[in-house]
Amino acid sequence: MTVKFYSGEKIPLEMHKVRIIQKLNLLPVEERLKAMKEAGFNTFLLQNKDVFLDMLTDSGVNAMSDRQQAAMLEADDSYAGSASFTRLEKTIQEIFRKKYFLPAHQGRACENILSTTFVRPGTYVPMNYHFTTTHAHITKNGGKVVEVFTDEALKLNSDHPFKGNIDIKKLINLIQEVGAENIPFVRMEAGTNLIGGQPFSLENLREVRKVCDEYGIKLVLDASLLQDNLYFIKQREDECQNMTIREITRKISDLCDIIYFSARKLGFARGGGIITDSEEDMRAMREYVTLYEGFLTYGGMSVREIEAIAIGLEETMDEEMINQGPLFIEYMTNELLKKGVPVVTPPGGLGCHINAMEFLPHVPQHEYPAGALAAAIYIASGVRGMERGTMSEARDENGVENLANMELVRLAVPRRVFTLSQIQYVIDRVSWLYENRHIIEGLKYVDEPKVLRFFVGKLDALSDWPERLVEKFRADFGDSL
Ligand code: F0G
Repeated sequence: MTVKFYSGEKIPLEMHKVRIIQKLNLLPVEERLKAMKEAGFNTFLLQNKDVFLDMLTDSGVNAMSDRQQAAMLEADDSYAGSASFTRLEKTIQEIFRKKYFLPAHQGRACENILSTTFVRPGTYVPMNYHFTTTHAHITKNGGKVVEVFTDEALKLNSDHPFKGNIDIKKLINLIQEVGAENIPFVRMEAGTNLIGGQPFSLENLREVRKVCDEYGIKLVLDASLLQDNLYFIKQREDECQNMTIREITRKISDLCDIIYFSARKLGFARGGGIITDSEEDMRAMREYVTLYEGFLTYGGMSVREIEAIAIGLEETMDEEMINQGPLFIEYMTNELLKKGVPVVTPPGGLGCHINAMEFLPHVPQHEYPAGALAAAIYIASGVRGMERGTMSEARDENGVENLANMELVRLAVPRRVFTLSQIQYVIDRVSWLYENRHIIEGLKYVDEPKVLRFFVGKLDALSDWPERLVEKFRADFGDSL
């Protein structure tokens, strides 16, 4: 929640207290440079011991509650018929008001099952925006991802409250062009990840549903980032202001045929699953659960995590358990804006997103400005962010770079993990970097995998800019870490 200080300043106030801590390590800047070099300028390859604040992702690193920890002790371990699974299934049936729940070990496992079941060569999957793993699974099965986002989606600075909406006209045009029979499903992603954690509105989802009904197409929701989307709907959509988070969740669920999620995000734990009311769809997908994931009462998840997800989903229905992330992100975004740092607006969920193209206008896209900035942020602060730009895209079949629509550095804010002074530290170091942005230059791949190259690929700096950055840090900060 936000409170007003006597000074008039509005501060996001944590509505929880910390009862378990993990010690952190902040290396001197010279050692941070060494670690970044060893990681091939790829923040995915840094060792956690060398990272001060891990803002790589919000996936699987959200803080659990006391109730989740307690439930994990009661977990019922058995291959088949686990009582833990039954508890999660009941919670899901109650929250989403749908009959069937198929467990999977994480979000992309759900995407594998969905795509293997429904996507055929030559089909098209319209969506508000792709996510990397979604795209990979759909194309692996011969389908084509078609993004039908609104004109607002790619505007990095906007005051549109729902940049994650689908453009209904574009959706209808696509259906008429390729034929409804060639569209296995329309996919709506909650808290649209790659455009900065931006939500869709309930109204837009309702319109998408209408189109799906008219043409007889399934509507699939990727609910991995639903928690943030729910919060934004409540804050920003007039018709929902007096609704509870639970009521909004039900309304969303009622509009969708299939809902899948990564419980590494939704539910503050680790795992995933697919929810539907259709027996036919459930049966079709079920075969792949047993083939790829495990038996139907665990689906590759530990029963301890299953217990934690059940409680975590229940807690997600409590606005004060889910608003810390978006409020911290809003604070960080606004403070960075005050210092002139180009960030994505309006603030979304998931994290604060820095616009690397504007931060580093002198670095061309094929030299990975967002990758270079993510490396520079680590060197300047020990904070690990994630490149979300051309480095994360795949080359086309001819080996030509696929230049991303946006070059972003995502500084994820794992839910309920960081304190405000830690966020203030990040703001300070990023602002310093902005004043010294002329020092930062580009990167090049020196070891480039073919599939999802950003995970394990290695790069090198195009000059000695990282060394010069360290020198400037020492000159400005003296012997401070
Ligand atoms: N869908 C969305 C919207 C996601 O953000 C993710 C994961 C997935 C699906 C896949 O789920 O990781 O459990 O297999 N996003 C993570 C991230 C990786 O860092 O943004 P998963």
